[in-house]
Amino acid sequence: MQAQLEPFHAIAISRLAHALKAQGRSIIHMEFGQPSTGAPPAAIARAHAVLDDDAMGYWESAPLKQRLARHYHERYGVTVNPERFILTCGASPALVLALNSLFSPGDRVALARPGYVAYRNALKALHLEPVEIACGPEVRYQLTAAALAAVEPAPHAVIIASPANPTGTIIAAEELAAIAEVCRERGIRIISDEIYHGLSYVEPAQTILAYAPEALVVSSFSKYFSMAGWRLGWLLVPEDHIARAQAYCGNLFLTAPSLSQHAALAAFDDLTELDSHLHVYAENRRLLLAALPDLGLRAIAPPDGAFYIYASIAHLTDDSLDFCQRLLNDTGVATAPGIDFDPVDGRHFFRMSFAVSTPQIVDAIARLQPWFAAQAGL
Ligand SMILES: Cc1ncc(COP(=O)(O)O)c(C=O)c1O
Repeated sequence: MQAQLEPFHAIAISRLAHALKAQGRSIIHMEFGQPSTGAPPAAIARAHAVLDDDAMGYWESAPLKQRLARHYHERYGVTVNPERFILTCGASPALVLALNSLFSPGDRVALARPGYVAYRNALKALHLEPVEIACGPEVRYQLTAAALAAVEPAPHAVIIASPANPTGTIIAAEELAAIAEVCRERGIRIISDEIYHGLSYVEPAQTILAYAPEALVVSSFSKYFSMAGWRLGWLLVPEDHIARAQAYCGNLFLTAPSLSQHAALAAFDDLTELDSHLHVYAENRRLLLAALPDLGLRAIAPPDGAFYIYASIAHLTDDSLDFCQRLLNDTGVATAPGIDFDPVDGRHFFRMSFAVSTPQIVDAIARLQPWFAAQAGL
């Protein structure tokens, strides 16, 4: 039987935002989690040069895998064989590859609710069973070792995400170690989505590999590297899974785009430029956090990393999609409804992405203030 997937409602919001823009309205795009900056200059320059002298066939960049391995050593102090990287068209196919190459239909995979919309839907599309664990404010909307230990029977796998989408919360190092321990004891395979690594406002997030060398890691160049449209990411697999993952990747996806692989390697020469984006996000986050109490938004997840604020709007609505549509129509500020991330409680939340420029954040706050004041008075 074919799986029924829910739509990604932020796409509908984005469509509406673009329709309003076409009518001449001024729109601030805070609905998607993507940097408004482009690829770093070294990546662009490399891409221009390669276009002139490369036939651009199917290709897997050995230098890029080596550079990624060096990155893991420098950033996390973990040593990985470059062959363990499978290059993919972003974290999305990397997740599909991980799930498809490891599990059989009906296998159970635990994940936090709220969580990234595609986890639940990718699991369903692959006929795997999502085991959603409700994670509220008391656990900073994150999975815990205790919650995983309580799932009966033990799931085949768990997807963890730190920093998380939609909340930006980070799993503390001790908790990550405890999760790894529970998974080892219970035979639960860990898939760690580390796509928001490099974007932290508190302690940097540690890779799960520091605690669970047998885990699979999903990541990409879409967020910190500011190259979402270049469609390049990686799946990092344990040694005993390399051959199988390569076979699945070759048959399902062939290779990742050659141009993007060349550009991504050069992006590592521009880490200073990429770190400067983090300073912009940090300032945007500071401005938003300062403004939220005046908007009446006091129940928020602590945005430790990524570029999101996930806030409760329970005092204003129980229909987050309608709320986001009205907010967009009235103010031009596009946001994502909580139902994308949490089918149960998400009607009481919305998510703002602050991966835009600081002047846009200032403008958004100025538009939101009178609107929220009016809502509270309704
Ligand atoms: C948590 C998370 N994982 C994975 C992805 C997919 O990213 P991509 O396929 O662009 O690498 C996203 C995109 O927003 C995300 O938020």
